[in-house]
Amino acid sequence: MRVAFLVKFMFFFILSCSSDSGQEVGYEDVDNKKAFNPTPLEVVIPANFPDLTYDLSLNPPTQEGFALGKRLFYEGKLSSTGVISCGECHRQEFSFTHHKHIVSHGVNGLLGTRNSPPVQNMAFLNEFNWDGAANHLDMQPIIPITSEVEMNETFTNVLAKLAADENYPPLFEAAFENGKIDTANMLKALSQFMVMMISADSKYDKFTRNEGGISLNEQEQAGQALFESKCASCHAGTLFTDQSYRNNGLPIDPKYNDMGRKLVSGLDTDAQKFRVPSLRNVELTLPYMHDGRFKTLKDVLDFYDSGMVNSETLDPVLTNNGKLGIPLTETEKEQLITFLKTLTDTNFAFDRRFAEF
Ligand code: HEC
Ligand code: HEC
Repeated sequence: MRVAFLVKFMFFFILSCSSDSGQEVGYEDVDNKKAFNPTPLEVVIPANFPDLTYDLSLNPPTQEGFALGKRLFYEGKLSSTGVISCGECHRQEFSFTHHKHIVSHGVNGLLGTRNSPPVQNMAFLNEFNWDGAANHLDMQPIIPITSEVEMNETFTNVLAKLAADENYPPLFEAAFENGKIDTANMLKALSQFMVMMISADSKYDKFTRNEGGISLNEQEQAGQALFESKCASCHAGTLFTDQSYRNNGLPIDPKYNDMGRKLVSGLDTDAQKFRVPSLRNVELTLPYMHDGRFKTLKDVLDFYDSGMVNSETLDPVLTNNGKLGIPLTETEKEQLITFLKTLTDTNFAFDRRFAEF
């Protein structure tokens, strides 16, 4: 007790003396330590978007935190084999999906059971993954890092690898006041990167916001009208999802027997329900559905028209008038596809801020 008190007292004494002269050892030590002074990054919410769900006050993005998060996103050391980064399954040119991969492809070529969804507008979602297994963006990366078929690594190992890499200590120090290479800071940095990944610059957006005299042509407008009447009850609002879990009538694939939301809630009434996906950038995010079973948008529309199967949890919207599915003519399918392509935001897919190199 007494010693501790003395040490504290001396520390106080050194500091108070030094501030008079500026010449004492204690003062110089403080002065030499680089001041923590990161540059804040503004999160601009597009005019046609809802409020953020991500609480920025708990993890305010900074240039330094973003830079660290981006490096971590493209870092193979997050996986046991050293080569599978987040960016491997979430490729920017395809709005951060795993292009042409039906289900995710992780360490040593191991296959998962689900298709990699786009990482875009994450700061507006309530829950994450096809079944909502993660309810906070900061927690999401724990799943792929520790999944045996994805990155198959432990946080202890990842943190040790980062600490041993001379690039990381200065990046962590610049991004976080305590400068620690720990789980919390790593997850916060990844979130800062993902929070900034807002995609809101498609033709549809410019048209909605009345920007630059952009308008939709006749075919696109016809598609939009169809979409509003046949699809927007689930793919709702400007995010093109109401974020609910629904069974849209896909026949169950016995290979995976994926029960969707039931795996999280434990409820039979949630069997085969999956989160309604956003359709932003849908032109780029093929293949489609939770298990990537459809290659093209035409395949998807053929399914809605005539491929649906009934089951106990099928969404009631899809059995209207006692008839299964959403009847669509070939012309209507073309119009819908033309409209869906107005949701492509190439500026986002090629935005240098998010690019690996
Ligand atoms: C092996 C491929 C793979 C790797 C590596 C991977 N992911 Fe994913 N990611 C997926 C798949 C597949 C899903 C959907 C999982 C599910 O629904 O069960 C997903 C889901 C997500 C989601 C949720 C998206 C949404 O719409 O809810 C985010 C965010 C995400 N990943 C970020 C990351 C980050 C960050 C990393 C690196 C730490 C990472 N992913 C590594 C394949 C991968
Ligand atoms: C009853 C709600 C509902 C309606 C109505 C609906 N969808 Fe969906 N849609 C979903 C759900 C749920 C999924 C994901 C299903 C899964 O993967 O198991 C989905 C998936 C999709 C996908 C795949 C997206 C991806 O990233 O994999 C596309 C494209 C799509 N829907 C387009 C449409 C279109 C176009 C319409 C109107 C013709 C429509 N949907 C009507 C609920 C709905």
